[in-house]
Amino acid sequence: AFTLSNPARPVLLAAARSERLERMLSRSKITRSLVSRFIPGEAEEAVMEAVGRLLAAGHAISVDYLGEDISHPEEADRTVAAYVSLLEAYRRLEVPATDGVSRLEVSIKLSALGQSLPGDGEALALRNARTICAAAETAGAWVNVDAEDHTTTDSTLGIVRELRKDFPSVATVLQAYLHRTEADCRDLAGAGSRIRLCKGAYKEPAEVAFQGKEDVDAAYLRCLKVLMEGDGYPMVASHDPRIIEAAQSYAREAGRSPHDFEIQMLYGIRPEEQDRLVGEGLTMRTYVPFGDDWYGYFMRRLAERPANLVFFLRSLVGR
Ligand code: FDA
Repeated sequence: AFTLSNPARPVLLAAARSERLERMLSRSKITRSLVSRFIPGEAEEAVMEAVGRLLAAGHAISVDYLGEDISHPEEADRTVAAYVSLLEAYRRLEVPATDGVSRLEVSIKLSALGQSLPGDGEALALRNARTICAAAETAGAWVNVDAEDHTTTDSTLGIVRELRKDFPSVATVLQAYLHRTEADCRDLAGAGSRIRLCKGAYKEPAEVAFQGKEDVDAAYLRCLKVLMEGDGYPMVASHDPRIIEAAQSYAREAGRSPHDFEIQMLYGIRPEEQDRLVGEGLTMRTYVPFGDDWYGYFMRRLAERPANLVFFLRSLVGR
């Protein structure tokens, strides 16, 4: 089973930042075929095909245009254009919201919109995010601002607070492995607040984050309880059966209906379980990434699960 103390995890998360390895792996055909397990394609048509299938099967979706840590504002322009075009495609789907829940969402990363560029990076990211939020509003879609490494948390929560003044449905992500998160959950559990709770996918130092799986899982359950007992809309992002069960029982205890919270999982991970939860009448949102900048995302998935890594290494050596 996965553990945050998995010995390969720090190496893989460090490798996720290696440009040399990225160049090498991106050229390999084998990598590309493995990547397709987690990413339906690089082009908008490919992701929209996957979205169509998921919606038809009763899922809600959140699409992420892959990219992070840019070094030029023009890269952010490309990301904004990709989201605007995707949201145009959403409009053509005409999927109405049910019980106030939009089945269509986009997930954005502020680092891909300019957040860490020197000078006015944060202001640029806010402007870019606003453009995406306006396009999403026209399409009847929600927007979620993803969480990245802990050095960005304050800046991200600040930008989300600004965005919510004009677009109150904008959601963000809290990472249970950070020591600060239980307090952030209390702050952000109010009415109208949508919070995705995840364990956290980055390599973080012990000063700011729990390191062992048991500590992270316990922190997740504490945070989940705060969100479920609050007045907001909790979004439970996890593939962990214990967490999914706890979410359902905390929701029952808090008197929430299946429309007052949702479960979220990543494309390609536990797909049968995702369908089973849809069958139980829960709101199940599948996070679907697309685009050619898949390297960091793919490496974080390998780091999460030794079985994914073994599968990958076996294919590289041809057995
Ligand atoms: P974990 O990886 O601890 O797995 C626990 C158990 O789940 C396993 O023991 C197994 O039983 C089951 N399981 C997991 N993977 C499986 C597989 N492939 N096949 C079968 N069983 C499996 N992170 C972040 O830092 N910022 C963000 O914005 C987001 N956003 C986000 C959105 C969504 C929708 C999801 C699902 C996740 C994220 N994450 C994220 C990633 C998150 O932080 C975390 O790294 C992964 O979800 C892995 O943690 P799990 O909670 O899934 O459990």
